[in-house]
Amino acid sequence: MDKYQKIIAITGGAGFIGSHVLRLFVNKYPEYFIVNVDALTYAGNLENLRDIESKPNYAFEHADICDENKIEELFAKYNFDAFIHLAAESHVDRSITDPLAFVRTNVLGTGILLNACRKHWKDKASDKNLFYHVSTDEVYGSLGETGFFTEETPYDPRSPYSASKASSDHLVMAYHHTYDLPVVLSNCSNNYGSHHFPEKLIPLMINNIKHNKPLPVYGKGENVRDWLWVEDHARAIDLIFHKGRRGEKYNIGGFNEWKNIDLVHLLCNIMDEKLGREKGTSAKLITHVKDRMGHDLRYAIDASKLNNELGWKPSLQFEEGLGKTVDWYLQNEAWVNHVTSGQYQQYYSEQYNKR
Ligand code: NAD
Ligand code: TYD
Repeated sequence: MDKYQKIIAITGGAGFIGSHVLRLFVNKYPEYFIVNVDALTYAGNLENLRDIESKPNYAFEHADICDENKIEELFAKYNFDAFIHLAAESHVDRSITDPLAFVRTNVLGTGILLNACRKHWKDKASDKNLFYHVSTDEVYGSLGETGFFTEETPYDPRSPYSASKASSDHLVMAYHHTYDLPVVLSNCSNNYGSHHFPEKLIPLMINNIKHNKPLPVYGKGENVRDWLWVEDHARAIDLIFHKGRRGEKYNIGGFNEWKNIDLVHLLCNIMDEKLGREKGTSAKLITHVKDRMGHDLRYAIDASKLNNELGWKPSLQFEEGLGKTVDWYLQNEAWVNHVTSGQYQQYYSEQYNKR
């Protein structure tokens, strides 16, 4: 381990965004040793990381962040210099049916990691240590027709998911102010791209269009989300991890607002073209269903702080990114089948238990 410049724990590395961040760090920084700390819930899929799992600077640890003893054991084993914390329960609809699972992982789990870092990072002068907390724009609540969330927008979470993420953000900042823990935090808008679990809007619609199943649009479909290519989020995290100011928060977003219904129509058109269907065929599958309880109307991020301070901007136009995303899902049928059948959960026992 001595040959590595830093030992970084990435929590939730088997999930959607975590797997993109992990891949970026493992490939770009052979001088860092990266430990993927993940409980492999329904959302964790080690098949997401097949291409990097044999790299010498990567290790996987099957661990629940709420298990204090396990986190201590991992600190003893790796003496982590930094955390990039993505592990969370992340789906709003699930938070409406099972809110306490979100309180447990997102609030208690984050608290347990913060406590461990506080205990182990004694050298306040060291600039090696950093707790990077990955959060969401949903903590700011819901916008009307106009305006943007800035870093100064007061928190106003409305779903159990966003409330649990807001609590964790507050804990992170409280550990910075109270104990001087080196932290940085980012709040990002909705991500899309490859390896996205098909319970979320875009991958669900792609999968349903492919299989000619109904496309469930909640309510009238007039809710607005601001979509960002997941690899642009990963690049922003890389930049903030290395250059972000301690104790600061940064908004990340694509300046790319879409009404759900317009987005679903766009996806239908892209899929008609890619599947060789007559234009308008897939849109016939659109079915308006009962609205989500407490459904936030509009999210829109002002990412100018990140742009002005660190020079970040999104790299991809939405149509191009959606096209690439659709291609990935069409070319990775096995991945989708494993996820929808539950087979992906065997991958860990088959690959790791035999070692
Ligand atoms: P995801 O649901 O795809 O993955 C979450 C990962 O965390 C999974 O690998 C899961 O196994 C792991 N995990 C869950 N509970 C755990 C626990 N108790 N201990 C250890 N590991 C656990 O989530 P995602 O969409 O990749 O989101 C990652 C992070 O980014 C979350 O913190 C989320 O709030 C935040 N975020 C997501 C979005 C988005 O659009 N998806 C946008 C902004 C911020
Ligand atoms: P989602 O991908 O769950 O992300 P979030 O709720 O965190 O923004 O949903 C994106 C938008 O799409 C949201 O307004 C809810 C809506 N939606 C549907 O209309 N139908 C669906 O089946 C899903 C999953 C979401």
